[in-house]
Amino acid sequence: MSVLPTSFGGVFKIKDKDRESLATRSLVKNQSVYGEKVFDIEDYSYRLWSTRRSKLAAAIKKGLHELPIQLGSHVLYLGAASGTTVSHISDIVGEEGVVYAVEFSPISARDLVFLAESRSNIIPIVDDARRPTNYTSIVTGSIDVVYQDVAQPDQARILFDNIRTFCSLGAWAMIAIKARSIDSVSETRQVFDREVGSLQESGLDVIERVNLTPYERDHEMVLLRVTEDL
Ligand SMILES: C[S@@+](CC[C@H](N)C(=O)[O-])C[C@H]1O[C@@H](n2cnc3c(N)ncnc32)[C@H](O)[C@@H]1O
Repeated sequence: MSVLPTSFGGVFKIKDKDRESLATRSLVKNQSVYGEKVFDIEDYSYRLWSTRRSKLAAAIKKGLHELPIQLGSHVLYLGAASGTTVSHISDIVGEEGVVYAVEFSPISARDLVFLAESRSNIIPIVDDARRPTNYTSIVTGSIDVVYQDVAQPDQARILFDNIRTFCSLGAWAMIAIKARSIDSVSETRQVFDREVGSLQESGLDVIERVNLTPYERDHEMVLLRVTEDL
């Protein structure tokens, strides 16, 4: 078994015979968060990062060119659920970074709060991402990346309101658009184009779009950047 770096800091490939899987170097030794396999290699634990459980892993596997989430990044994560993807982002940003993880379902948030007890760089926020002013006192300093996976019909508006509240020029955003939550009738491509168009009209620059098939049906990951005052 061997561990190989990727072009993204903090993201690795674990090679086992002829199988290659994405992984992150765990902030907490020997911790499995959602049942993923953990391997100890030399002085570190590596957690396999499932492309079926995490849309960010799926986007990387599908050829994402740029990942703004890096060592030391301050990330605002909207739609954290129980913390599956949040845990890998926590590994990537390390102790110098922070993940503010917003989730409004108290049931999912219970596991998220539990996860945050073992990882000091995760700040759980049990609140509605539609109301960013509710958590301005918790999110301190400027946010480098807003990551959003809420599967809601108004997800573009939710993203934009959070960017306007917490980000400055040069900040990044990633949104996992779920076509079927927005429009169950139109062709998925049309729904993606419409959503991306509305984000562009809001003043965001579209850097990259990645379709997540076959890992997630009817989903597209979009990378955006704040390049003008909003
Ligand atoms: C698809 S799941 C997220 C999975 C998670 N991002 C992961 O990869 O581990 C969507 C989550 O968004 C949450 N959600 C939906 N609308 C929300 C809102 N307005 N505010 C906060 N959380 C929301 C849901 O409760 C659900 O847990």
